[in-house]
Amino acid sequence: MDKLLIKGKKPLSGEIYASGAKNSALPILAASLLSDSPLTVGNLPHLNDVTTMLELLGSMGVDVLLSDDMEVRVDASTIKNLDARYELVKTMRASILVLGPLLAKYQKATVALPGGCAIGSRPVNLHIEAMRLMGADINIEDGYIRASVKGRLKGTKIIFEPVSVTATENVIMAATLAEGETVIENAAREPEVIDLANCLIGMGAKIKGAGTDTIVVEGVKSLKGTSFSVMPDRVEVGTYLTAVAMTGGKVKIKSAKPEYLSSVITKLESCGAEIESSEDWILIEMKKERPIATSLTTGPYPSFPTDMQAQFVSLNSIAKGNSTVTETVFENRFMHVQEIARMGGNITLKGNTAVIQGISKLKGAPVMATDLRASASLVLAGLVAEGSTTIDRIYHIDRGYERIEEKLKLLGADIERIS
Ligand code: EPZ
Repeated sequence: MDKLLIKGKKPLSGEIYASGAKNSALPILAASLLSDSPLTVGNLPHLNDVTTMLELLGSMGVDVLLSDDMEVRVDASTIKNLDARYELVKTMRASILVLGPLLAKYQKATVALPGGCAIGSRPVNLHIEAMRLMGADINIEDGYIRASVKGRLKGTKIIFEPVSVTATENVIMAATLAEGETVIENAAREPEVIDLANCLIGMGAKIKGAGTDTIVVEGVKSLKGTSFSVMPDRVEVGTYLTAVAMTGGKVKIKSAKPEYLSSVITKLESCGAEIESSEDWILIEMKKERPIATSLTTGPYPSFPTDMQAQFVSLNSIAKGNSTVTETVFENRFMHVQEIARMGGNITLKGNTAVIQGISKLKGAPVMATDLRASASLVLAGLVAEGSTTIDRIYHIDRGYERIEEKLKLLGADIERIS
């Protein structure tokens, strides 16, 4: 099993490009199921989760043609079955995103229930209840969601509590081919929801309000293929910006959208980083020896993203001063705390808050990744720790960070992948 070996205390400098957003690519690839003609998706990140989604579509008989620059042409007209099997779903819970499109287009879907997950129970009740409200019959048996609808799904009003990104995306996709109008209240406002809506509009969907908490979809009879390039990955960009705020140095991240990172940029500036940006790049410089401790609370967009929480626990563990990091989205997203503690971090968990006493240095140690963003936080800790850090189970990282060691090496980090 691959590991990452990092020798810390090297400042980062140089330029890298952001990859396409995983959490935009996944719903957009699922949206191909809605179309009568091929959908071409560009700027796809080369990530295990994207490969899994393409495998899932392929397992249904959908024709997937991948070009060398990670552009894919998906033609769902060849679909043979409407099943998302457990073998694939268990490796990627975002497989639930085929539920809405299959019901809307083919009036039937059998989707394995995604199991639990390291960061929380992550139920899919909101997805199921929404499909039922749109007229689907859904039975849950032997670990599968068995859904069907007589005729077309019906547009209706759906109010989400709590806010759910993929449940919002599932309903938007289902509503594009439903009969009548669907109004989604307390909708997720994440930029990836906007990206999905823009792709669907390009396919002929009638969607208003994406990016706000109220989204209105007018059902149409059919959608056609289009070409769409996914947005840059704001969490990947935020992770590299946080790395620089920890190690010191000066880095420019190209094809990054600062408008989608304002809550993270604000926090990085509170840490003492200097940030400049234009509409498609972000430049960060950290002249201070150590960042200034900065407290935060995560929440649905536009609040501080839960997907950046672990990275900021890492930053605060070596910051000047004490801080608190409160996680309000997932119930168990502090697995990284014990690992950073093994490196000398002084962090106490009090319910859903990590109380952090900043120390001047972490010490390299063997640590283990437990979930995607926790593993990113361990990479960041390794970049600033004294001595060597080896990170095990880095398949978690490969789900969400394209070529992380290559990009960090480009910036001067001493990091390599060892088998
Ligand atoms: C999306 O997950 C992202 N994944 C996650 O990114 C991200 O952390 C999360 O949104 C929050 O921003 C993708 O977009 C593929 P939610 P999602 O439904 O949609 C509860 C990463 O690191 N909930 O917005 O699954 C849920 O338990 C991943 O890239 C229900 O109770 O998250 C959580 O407490 C990790 N019932 C809250 O809502 C439901 O049916 C928000 O979850 C659905 C969700």
